[in-house]
Amino acid sequence: MNEIRIFSPATVANVACGFDVLGFCLDHIGDEMVVRKTDKKGVVITKIEGFDLPFEVGKNVAGVSALALIADANPDCGFEIEIYKKIKPGSGIGSSAASAAGCVFAINELLERPYNKMQLTYFAIKGEAIASKCEHADNLAPAIFGGFTLVKSVNPLEILQIPTPHDLFATIIHPQIEIKTSEARAILPKEIPLQLAITQWANMGSLVHGLHSNDYGLISKSLHDVVIEPYRSQLIPYFKEVKMAALNAGALGCGISGSGPSIFSLSKGIKDASNVEVAMNNVYRKTNIKFDTYVCKINTKGIKILNK
Ligand code: HSE
Repeated sequence: MNEIRIFSPATVANVACGFDVLGFCLDHIGDEMVVRKTDKKGVVITKIEGFDLPFEVGKNVAGVSALALIADANPDCGFEIEIYKKIKPGSGIGSSAASAAGCVFAINELLERPYNKMQLTYFAIKGEAIASKCEHADNLAPAIFGGFTLVKSVNPLEILQIPTPHDLFATIIHPQIEIKTSEARAILPKEIPLQLAITQWANMGSLVHGLHSNDYGLISKSLHDVVIEPYRSQLIPYFKEVKMAALNAGALGCGISGSGPSIFSLSKGIKDASNVEVAMNNVYRKTNIKFDTYVCKINTKGIKILNK
């Protein structure tokens, strides 16, 4: 195989109480990439459509991830990358992770899969790090593994797959403003009070238990973020209003998607998720901020091959 086209999904990181460790994969929102082998060694980015991103390999998250992989694999060929970007950079639904993860996934397929998903995540972290100025994998892991993932540790890398309850649907609202992950990280406190930490890890543990046991009530009771949301929500216009509208419309929970500005909700069933979309929509419709909304199932497969 000399060429591959893949779909690399958007993802929601943090999932309220799981800052930097928990994430899930969205179903039909994502980028496409075409990667082909070349005789000349090395990596070139030949096309980027959708958004203005660097062609210089060392400055592009996909390029840096690809370089990390080929430095290890030392293949006899090089690679040409085309990026069809649908996820706006700085949207909070894993734009850089989709590029980084998609690229290493595609190269691995072209090399006939020398690496497993954990190793691919390791290479992709190198690219993701240039966007967020730190190594974290809570968007990458769900893009690569699918479903819900827990990054137990980055160094050494350890990722756990968590079951996805069948009726869980996500609703996303994406206000068209940009929040840079590095800036949304810079405003966070370096230390947190013990009492908040206790609440947060209790919620985190019970959310994971709820996902394992299909307990939608417990999932709902656990989707609270007492540590990060108070700071970051100030960067997102009408966050409180959107959250209240989503919960009133039947969402199990609602929070900031990754570092924002997107806001996610989880609901039981498509009907509730669609009602939540209407409710979120109604809040932003009254403002002059452009926005998109999406409703989708949780994608349990992650990146997929579109054609070989
Ligand atoms: N966990 C990361 C953060 C995800 O919230 O900063 C965003 O890339």
